[in-house]
Amino acid sequence: MKVAVLGAAGGIGQALSLLLKTSLPAGSELSLYDVAPVVPGVAVDLSHIPTDVKVEGFGADSLDAALVGCDIVLIPAGMPRKPGMDRADLFNVNAGIIKTLAEGIVKNCPKALVGIITNPVNGTVPIVAEVFKKAGTYDANRVFGITTLDVIRSEAFVAELKGLSATDVKVPVIGGHSGTTILPLLSQVEGVTFTDEEVAALTPRIQNAGTEVVNAKAGGGSATLSMGAAAARFCMSLVKGLQGEDVVDYAYVAVENGDAAYFAHPVRLGKNGVEEILSYGELSAFEEQAKNDMLATLNKDIQEGVDFING
Ligand code: NAD
Ligand code: LMR
Repeated sequence: MKVAVLGAAGGIGQALSLLLKTSLPAGSELSLYDVAPVVPGVAVDLSHIPTDVKVEGFGADSLDAALVGCDIVLIPAGMPRKPGMDRADLFNVNAGIIKTLAEGIVKNCPKALVGIITNPVNGTVPIVAEVFKKAGTYDANRVFGITTLDVIRSEAFVAELKGLSATDVKVPVIGGHSGTTILPLLSQVEGVTFTDEEVAALTPRIQNAGTEVVNAKAGGGSATLSMGAAAARFCMSLVKGLQGEDVVDYAYVAVENGDAAYFAHPVRLGKNGVEEILSYGELSAFEEQAKNDMLATLNKDIQEGVDFING
């Protein structure tokens, strides 16, 4: 298994790389790329952890070398938010970064499974897809927006509210990854019931959890440690799928005849990425209304990404 982290010297990149160094299967290779000059040092640092995962660092001029032969590429490269900003405010800076990195994937590992973390995820995923389409290498089953942070936050908050062990709580989260486009399906949490008041309070808490971190870090960036954990968890689902295990996880993927061209769904993962997009099941009246209300925002975000490549 060869896994590349693009943006590996950043807050997410370093946390994610550490977790992958300690959890990828023995014999794996971890390829760390960043434009920041510290990246070879990050690789040396990680290489002193005694696991059977080989780590190599690649600087600004070595994108091709970092990507050759990769099975999985994870992308946390780009600017994070500061207080007062929306994720959409990051589009102008991050769209160009994502385009360049997607072109590198086309050239060096067009069959890789690609997990996109860079915000705004609602728009950066369509950018990657459009770059791949233009190059003739697009396979919708291999491109994922990583929404696992919304899932793990929901697990943590529900466990806290209900006094449960977080490891026992599973919360489906559908839609996109910004504000109201994040839709936790609290009606589907097994073994837990919520009052209308709890749903009305917990839903926006989950939707605004990114802003909670941005404000708490007071100008020092956005979620990095929880995101590192989330991306590592999603990467391990991709790895298990590639190894032939039957795995279901949530991700923002291209959907034909769905609610929007891209929408986070439960997906069955396998040797070719998405084997099947699963239904998210029945929604409560509150969730149905919230889904209908967010679609205009989500569609606008998606179109912005498509237009960045084709407009
Ligand atoms: P950071 O500033 O700590 O790290 C970003 C890294 O990207 C830096 O090391 C920088 O050198 C690198 N970089 C910039 N341009 C690059 C390029 N062209 N090629 C390779 N590397 C490049 O930021 P962070 O906190 O790690 O956040 C990274 C991104 O992830 C942000 O866009 C943030 O909004 C997003 N994010 C997404 C989620 C999610 O749930 N999907 C969660 C948290 C953060
Ligand atoms: C998050 O949800 O924490 C990330 O998308 C970062 C952000 O800007 O909120």
